[in-house]
Parts: sequence; C-alpha cells; structure tokens
Amino acid sequence: MLRTHNNGELRLSNVGQTVTLCGWVQRTRDKGGMIWVDLRDRFGITQLMLEEGQSSKEALATTRSLGREFVVSATGTVVERLSKNDKIPTGDVEVKIDTITILNPAKLPPFLIEDITDGGDDLRMKYRYLDLRRNPVRENLILRHKMAQQVRSYLDSQNFIEVETPVLIKSTPEGARDFVVPSRMNPGEFYALPQSPQTFKQLLMVSGFDRYFQIVKCFRDEDLRADRQPEFTQIDCEMSFVEQEDVLQLFEGLIRHLFKTIKGIDLPELTRMTYAHAMKYYGSDKPDIRFGMQFVELKSEEVDLTSGKGFPVFDGASTVVGINAKGCADYTRKQVDELTEFVKRPQIGAKGLVYLRCMADGSLKSSIDKFYSPEDLKTWAEAFGAEPGDLMLILCGEGDKARKQLNDLRLEMGNRLGLRDPEKFAAHWVIDFPLFEYGEEDDRWFAMHHPFTSPKPEDIQFLESGDFGKIRANAYDMVINGVEIGGGSIRIFQKDLQAKMFEALGFSDEEAKHQFGFLMDAFEYGAPPHGGLAFGFDRICSLFGGSDSIRDFIAFPKNNSGRDVMIDAPSSIDAKQMDELKIKTVL
Ligand code: AMO
Repeated sequence: MLRTHNNGELRLSNVGQTVTLCGWVQRTRDKGGMIWVDLRDRFGITQLMLEEGQSSKEALATTRSLGREFVVSATGTVVERLSKNDKIPTGDVEVKIDTITILNPAKLPPFLIEDITDGGDDLRMKYRYLDLRRNPVRENLILRHKMAQQVRSYLDSQNFIEVETPVLIKSTPEGARDFVVPSRMNPGEFYALPQSPQTFKQLLMVSGFDRYFQIVKCFRDEDLRADRQPEFTQIDCEMSFVEQEDVLQLFEGLIRHLFKTIKGIDLPELTRMTYAHAMKYYGSDKPDIRFGMQFVELKSEEVDLTSGKGFPVFDGASTVVGINAKGCADYTRKQVDELTEFVKRPQIGAKGLVYLRCMADGSLKSSIDKFYSPEDLKTWAEAFGAEPGDLMLILCGEGDKARKQLNDLRLEMGNRLGLRDPEKFAAHWVIDFPLFEYGEEDDRWFAMHHPFTSPKPEDIQFLESGDFGKIRANAYDMVINGVEIGGGSIRIFQKDLQAKMFEALGFSDEEAKHQFGFLMDAFEYGAPPHGGLAFGFDRICSLFGGSDSIRDFIAFPKNNSGRDVMIDAPSSIDAKQMDELKIKTVL
C-alpha cells in the first residue's frame, strides 16, 4: 500500500504515530511561517502542516508548488491541533509533514471541486469524473451502493435467486421504442436492448426458479424527463404460486426494510387506492398523498351544480372540478393570475381558471359571480367544505383530461403551500388498473401495463364481449410522494388466455407467434401461476436522497438529448464498421 491510513480515519488516539497519507489537494493556505494543506480522498479530509524552520526546505518548496487537485503522498507525525475543527471527523489532529511527493500534477479543474460549485450542468457532465469527486455526488453513489446491498440482503433472505438475463434480445412492438443493435453475423437483422427482462423472468418461472430477482439495466428510447433516463436500473422480481396479495405484502416488506435500514424510518403499512379512485380524486395514477386537497366535482356523471345558469363555458363541459386551497383566500390578483397562466401553459393546456373565495366573514366571491347567484355559490362552497379564508380553484373540460390538468395545479399548490416536504414519506399502492387503454391516434387498444398482465377473473367476460374498456387488471403500482417507484402484475400463464389478449391488441396469429411464440410455447410445458413487479432503482435512490432528479444518482448519466457529453456518444462509426454491418448511410 502507498499509504498507512486514509484521510478520514486519524483521531487523537493516533497522536505520535508516523503516517503516510495519499490524496488530492483540496486547498493550501500559506501564512508565511506555516503552510496547511487539506488532503482529500473518498474517506474524508486530513490537514497537513509544515512549519518554516522545522520542516525540510525541500518539503516546504514542494508544498508551495502544489496546485488544486494535485495527487500527493505525504509522510509525517500525527499531532494534536491547537485550533480544532469540529466540522470534520479528523478535525482534532493534523499531520506534521517530513516528506511530501507529487505523484501527479493536475491541470486547474474547469470548476470548483467543492460542495457548492460554480460549474454549470453541461460542464460538470463533460468532466463528470471531476464532478464525482465532489462530496454530494459521491454521497449519492454511496447511498445507491448501500441500497443495492440492502435489496440483495432482503431478497436473499426471502429465498430469491439473482439471475442475469441477456442484453441482446429481440425487438417487440409494444411499450416504448427499442434501442437496436445491428448483427454483423446476420446481416440486415437486429437485436434490441431489453426495455425490461419481462419475458425472461416469466420463462424462469416456467423453469421452476420460483423466486427471481435482478438489479438490471433496462433501455428505452423515449423522451427524457427528470425521472427518466434512456438506460436506467430496475430491481426486477418475479414469484411463482402467488396471488396479488402475496406480491404486495412481500414488496411492501422490501420498501419498509429499505426505509428502516437506510433512513432509520419505520414506514407505516402502505395504504391502497384503486386506479378509479386515484383518477377521480387526484386526476393522477400516482397521487402524492402527503397532503389532501382532493378533487371536488361540481359537474360530472354523478352531479351537476353548474349547468343552466348561462355560463357557456361550464355548460359546454362534461366535467367541472376543483380543489380547496385552504387559507389562500387572500391571494392577490397577481397570484391568481400566475395560477391562471400556470394552467394555461401548453404542457397543461387548460383554457382558464375559475376561483371562488370564502372571505373572512363567510361571504363568497367568484370570478364568475355574474352568472351564479350567492345561493349557487353557497352550494359549491358546501361541496368543497369551504371555511372562511379558503380559495377554491376550479377547472372544466372533458373527464380525465380536465382532471389531469387539475392534478398539475394541485401539485403546484402543494409546492406553494410547502405541503410536499421531501423528508416526509407517504407510500401507497395503486391497484386495479385497467387492462387496456385506448390509443386515439392509432385507433386501437393498448395494454396499459404490458400484454402479459392478467385480467381480473371476474372481468374476463368483457374480453369475450369486446368491452375492453371495462376490464380491470391484476396490476399494481407502488407510489411514494407522487413518484411511481414500481409496478407489476399477476401474469397470464395459460396459452389460450394469452392468445386472446394478443388478439384484443390487434395481433394476428402469425404476428403473435412471430413475436412471442417462445412464450406461448413455454406455457404449454407446465407454466406455474406467477406474478411480480419491478422497481425503478434510480427513482428509489433519488427519493431517499431527497432529489427530484435521478441523474444525481447515476454515475455517468445521459443529458436531456440522450447524449453522454463526456465520451461523446452516440457518435458516427467508420465506413469499415458500416460495411461489416451491411448498413448503408442514408442521410
Ligand atoms: P414498468 O415499465 O412500469 O414495468 O417499469 C418499472 C419501473 O421502472 C421505472 N422506470 C424508469 N426509471 C427511470 N427511467 C425510465 N425511463 C423508466 N421507465 C420506467 C419506474 C417504473 O415503475 N416489466 C415491468 C414490471 C413487471 O410487470 O414486473 C416493467 O418494466 O419506477
């Protein structure tokens, strides 16, 4: 070893010892008579000290030539510090240097390697290896490491076996777009990178593995957001001879184990909410239930408190729905205008925002009181359970579209009112997802989760009758603080039902056989009932680390255009490679 200790471990008990430390120069302070160097490595910072007249001329000269981020080795004696630093664990001591050697000089880094840096996003990504020297980024990766260890330990204790599945697989038409890889040995043919190991884990159940897991890279060519990367990691799991309840229990156990061991939090039992309830009261299939502010309907299939009073906007809409922002009645005109602009942004797409204020004296004021009498407004206020000081924010439109817009407004109000504390955790299951969703553009039904998800037995009749919209699936998502951190389902394990499912999705027999023949065949050789789920590992890490962005928890992430700006990928390949792959450039 080139060192006797790392930079995080010396304490008063080491005083008097001769030690050799290695690391990077964080900073030097030269006060003439004394020089101090902060030496850093993954484990911490230790202060080195040299004194004019006592330290060798050579050591003093070398130290004076050090720049930021030089890699050095230093040998000296541990001494007690006169002025201690209680901010770092090694702050009681310093090392009085006898010899110091520059192992490698360093160019001046393009940004400060400090907790708070002056480097912008692009620069830090280009020099990610320097960014990774910074404490906050390193700590995120250490958190990720600890979580992976705990995941393995829990699943191992529950009899799961980690099996690796292939990365070069076959492209499938459902789900997101595939990344494809040309095959040199099979010109004109392509592998696809897995969007998830879904079919392989089901085949492992047919093989009798019973309980499988894998911490595995998945690849999806989709538009990126803060919580999406083109390559990301799943904790992928599957179990045999189980029903939905067994899966929910076991993986609730995993999440609670992680909260306990990593954060010391006893997470309460997860509550459950149906998809239908989530959409009706939160306008989202992943509601953030750290706060209430549930939707109140003024007009829907069940109620109508708004029609026939001459307000054409509400009359022409099928849905009028709102939230009660408690204590916000004193919002200024400017604040309400801001909210109106917020919902009118193209990403949200509402036409406008109606408000109803419940004033301190209990009187009601609305942006549309020329259409509605005080009695009308009173029925609204009652529906909202309004109290003096409350501000009701109301949107209208068509069914779930209006609800989704109100979901954005609800989350915005949650932020403004400080109701979304990242250190508070509300975890729950959303269950009973629809089996299908209708794709207007393609004019056909798509599997909401994936084509291997089983319908609820009592809804199979609708598969026969073609009432696809009515079928509920044995599918579930785990949601924490409004983030979908995992999802899965009980699978179809009978060939005939799987064939019906493919038919409903518009696959011909040949297409189904071509795409998934291997799975249908396997189902004829004794497939057990099975089900499972996959967690988004990057998302769980960012949630635990208190960040919205999963990039902070990935060592070498892609930017928003899907590029790795450090290695400059993707990039073109040379003509010889293209020839070998029998690919012609068409630009
Ligand atoms: P699903 O597609 O819901 O299910 O994915 C499971 C979980 O993976 C995470 N996730 C992502 N994380 C980061 N970037 C992405 N682009 C991304 N896409 C998904 C989410 C999500 O909940 N095979 C099924 C699981 C199963 O049925 O067992 C599947 O992949 O947290």
